[in-house]
Amino acid sequence: MTAVSAAGSPVTRSASVPRHVAIVMDGNGRWARKRFMPRVFGHKFGMETVVKVIDDCASRGVEYLTVYAFSSENWKRPDEEVSGLMNLVLVGVSKYLQRLAKDGIRIKVAGDRSVVSEKVRQAWNEAEALTAKNTGLTLTVAFNYGGRWDIVQACKRALADGNPPELLSEDVLSRYMALAHAPDPDLFIRTGGEVRVSNFLLWQLAYAEFHFTDCLWPDFDVAELDKAIAAYASRDRRFGGVKEGAGPISTNGASA
Ligand code: FPP
Repeated sequence: MTAVSAAGSPVTRSASVPRHVAIVMDGNGRWARKRFMPRVFGHKFGMETVVKVIDDCASRGVEYLTVYAFSSENWKRPDEEVSGLMNLVLVGVSKYLQRLAKDGIRIKVAGDRSVVSEKVRQAWNEAEALTAKNTGLTLTVAFNYGGRWDIVQACKRALADGNPPELLSEDVLSRYMALAHAPDPDLFIRTGGEVRVSNFLLWQLAYAEFHFTDCLWPDFDVAELDKAIAAYASRDRRFGGVKEGAGPISTNGASA
């Protein structure tokens, strides 16, 4: 249970800290509207928040952080917003990749890269390649990602690999899912006040603990993260079973 902080020093994760946190970063548009600014302005600030949250998670010993940056359904947004989000990938990679790489962060991208532009695809490939050997927090950016897409692509690849359908199992399929490199999320956070999953990690969230907050994503800070982790620590995880003398995670020592 040893993670690496952004400063590169090892952090031992206590059992009350989730190993894997997955976040739906909602509320950027409303945050911008409140400031009479275009929606893309909110996404731009949202990206700065992602960078801070990576550090905050790493310093608490979180080993995996997965963020929903662009869903399969986000193509329905106005052209200006879609191209603004695509451009943010290029801006984000050129502004932060070197620093994240130096801090030991390993970057992975989950989603259908076949339909994004060559420039965006190259930026993601570069981020993954440069950080592939890092041993700190694994940041997975879900981009052009959908939970249903993920299940279908995993089935297709498993069958194409010659797995006989009658031998397909949860374990086999898990190896083909877009997050095969990570354990299932322990804690799911959604900001922005909506209480839904929106086609995020449908397979992987089976036993995650859910935390919803009205906080708009660009305002999400270390205090909000600590609130979410405290809520997680107060839960009694049974994974469908029964535990004698079950109590909250922080006192019974259970972890992912
Ligand atoms: C949902 O808020 C947010 C998104 C669809 C995009 C999230 C993207 C970022 C935070 C930028 C990070 C970028 C990278 C490349 C890591 P919304 O726009 O639906 O907000 P609203 O509900 O207030 O309209």
